[in-house]
Amino acid sequence: MTSQKIKDVIKRPYDILVIGELNVDIILDKIQSLPETGKEKIAEEMNVVLGSSSAILASNLSSLGAKVVFMGKIGSDTFGEIVLSALEKKSVETAFVKRSQTSTGATVVMSMGNDRANITYPGAMSEFELSDINIDLLDSSRHLHFSSYFLQENLRKDIVKLFRLAKEKGLTTSFDPQWDPEEKWEINLDELLPYVDFFLPNLSELKAITRQPDLDSSLKAIKNYNAILVKMGTKGACYYKKGEKKIYPAILNSEVVDTVGAGDSFNAGFLFRFLQGKSMQECLDFALLTGAVSTTAAGGTAAFKNYEYVINIIRNKLGVKNYETTR
Ligand SMILES: Nc1ncnc2c1ncn2[C@@H]1O[C@H](COP(=O)(O)OP(=O)(O)OP(=O)(O)O)[C@@H](O)[C@H]1O
Ligand SMILES: [Mg+2]
Repeated sequence: MTSQKIKDVIKRPYDILVIGELNVDIILDKIQSLPETGKEKIAEEMNVVLGSSSAILASNLSSLGAKVVFMGKIGSDTFGEIVLSALEKKSVETAFVKRSQTSTGATVVMSMGNDRANITYPGAMSEFELSDINIDLLDSSRHLHFSSYFLQENLRKDIVKLFRLAKEKGLTTSFDPQWDPEEKWEINLDELLPYVDFFLPNLSELKAITRQPDLDSSLKAIKNYNAILVKMGTKGACYYKKGEKKIYPAILNSEVVDTVGAGDSFNAGFLFRFLQGKSMQECLDFALLTGAVSTTAAGGTAAFKNYEYVINIIRNKLGVKNYETTR
């Protein structure tokens, strides 16, 4: 990029454009055991909260202080209103979210400590397509993030086009595939990853996509990437660039409420520091902390009230007293 183009990108009004799925999470916490056909189980707690990987990331990035604009599709219904008002409450720009006659998506999350089983009704999110996207927003944003490839049936075929366009317009980019409910894992990484600065799968997703048995063989199977960050739950994360692998241990939380949104909160922390221009080490340190912060409260966004609140959890609940913060 020319220095003039870099200056133009820095002046853009939004730090990040998040494109992705929108749904509510109906979280059943502390269930006695996972569901079984013909039986009824009790959950000790229930919360209806903003769901969807993309929206949790957008909400948490905005809470940390980034300027975030969102594009996705909801239904004209109560769940759609819940999604919009949750994003607006966190100052995420929602003016470009599209409405459909199909119902807003919903995920029923059955959570037991570190484990959970989800059932998702995709609804409006699966109708969302390239023509719904206001392409001009790429000129107003510094970074593009996309989540949940396999849930967005209509957008999938155009994803390479979208990322190529974003790179042409000078944005940095990140992509979190998330789980494939059909477990077919059909994605052409060779075509896509040249346009993705940070590929952000978790370990199960990476192994499934590459059809390899472990971390090392999965990483070796990927060609034409820029950087890969693999989330590994309580085992932390792996940063892979130019064939070099580095493992970062997790900051453990001894009192996990639930792990909903830990991966999205990890992404949010990472991208927040990246957009501040921090070093990879600082970006990863913060990502591991914000992943753990997410586990201190129910759902994916409750622990992210604002930047100071997150830092307070890092110091007092996670016990990292000396965490140095630069806003
Ligand atoms: N129980 C935990 N205690 C502390 N930190 C955790 C815990 N679970 C996850 N994390 C942190 O969050 C990061 C991301 O979590 P995880 O590996 O579960 O991502 P994910 O599978 O993509 O999650 P998601 O379901 O939200 O998409 C981990 O790398 C780790 O740093
Ligand atoms: Mg994830």
